[in-house]
Amino acid sequence: MALLPILRYPDPRLHKVAAKITQVDDNIRKLIKDMTETMYAAPGVGLAATQVNVHKRLIIVDIAETRDQLKVLINPEILDASGEADCEEGCLSVPGIYEKVRRAERIKVSAQDQDGKLFKLDAEGLLAVCIQHEMDHLEGRVFVEYLSRLKQQRIMARLRKQERAAM
Ligand code: NI
Repeated sequence: MALLPILRYPDPRLHKVAAKITQVDDNIRKLIKDMTETMYAAPGVGLAATQVNVHKRLIIVDIAETRDQLKVLINPEILDASGEADCEEGCLSVPGIYEKVRRAERIKVSAQDQDGKLFKLDAEGLLAVCIQHEMDHLEGRVFVEYLSRLKQQRIMARLRKQERAAM
């Protein structure tokens, strides 16, 4: 297993659209293991392959405090969405920034698991938010792009400051 470097906003590679995974093989399973280790170490509640510069349709989430409820979604698709909820979100690619985003409150998703088997999942609350956030990454979207221009400018300024401080 290995920790993978996480792309930082506004890296243009975060805007790539991920390709469908046609075969769930050992390479994909190795990627899932590395992503899982990377997410838990960060620590974070979700990670999309896009964020580790692999542009394939794969996301992982674990919203449990006990860190033992890992969900792996390969080629996820939203079948149904309802309700609206404003939830404060953060992102491992946008460190230190937390902002409210409006999303569907409940979703039904289909995806493949790490054996390539198709399954459906009903999610609500934080899990639903997290899945939608990670699925956005596969489309090349980062959550801060839902915010006003002014807020985005402030975030960019803060990120630049963080980067200077880290040098
Ligand atoms: Ni994110």
